[in-house]
Amino acid sequence: MKLRVYFTPLGLDSQTVSGKPLLVIDALRATTTIVTALANGAKSVLPADSADEAMRLAHDLDSVVLAGEQNYKPIPGFQLGNSPSEMTEEVVAGKTVVMLTTNGTGAIVASRTASPVLIGAAVNFQAAVKRAKAAFKEAGELTILCAGHGMRFALEDAYVAGRFAKALLPARATGVEIDDATIAALQLVRHYGEKWKGAFTQSRSARNLKELGLGADVQSALEVDRFDIVPTYAERQVRV
Ligand code: MLT
Repeated sequence: MKLRVYFTPLGLDSQTVSGKPLLVIDALRATTTIVTALANGAKSVLPADSADEAMRLAHDLDSVVLAGEQNYKPIPGFQLGNSPSEMTEEVVAGKTVVMLTTNGTGAIVASRTASPVLIGAAVNFQAAVKRAKAAFKEAGELTILCAGHGMRFALEDAYVAGRFAKALLPARATGVEIDDATIAALQLVRHYGEKWKGAFTQSRSARNLKELGLGADVQSALEVDRFDIVPTYAERQVRV
């Protein structure tokens, strides 16, 4: 069996992961926000490649809401940002959320050849571990993809990848081939321990969000196991 971690989508080879299970993480904030939207009744989330594409997709749909950010800033013409707290039942239930974020939605789109593509975060951790474990066992391999930030390492995503790797590996990891990135992610978990807060709050993303008055989003992302759903991405849509 093989377990590999990518700290960013850079170098993700669509052929290597084709037809194989992959778990995408952008804990601060895209995958947390997507899980929240779907848990609150959104019909689906459509990750877009650009603001123009998002507008085009939204134009062709009924009951749609545009959400996202670019470099943490609101996108002109979009109704919502990228905060989990905006994805309330009143706002998203029964709607399609067309979404564009700086890193997270791109990472999901970059995973499109994989199957299944599972959407993970701390907020759906145990549920995602269960799904990923079953997919890993069945396929004999699993890729954990961190969105990172600007194609660079993001501490909170790498820590979450380590938590998933630890939960997925048998107690004696014999017979499982792991790459150096998985070893590094596991070491991060040894360093920060089982409390999610340390890695999250020390991360650049959390500090940026706090400076922008979005510190509550970091707290939302730390609501471990708040949701019991595992969205998947297929045919350009993220759905439960
Ligand atoms: C992203 O997708 O780049 C992140 O979710 C950034 C953010 O916090 O909005």
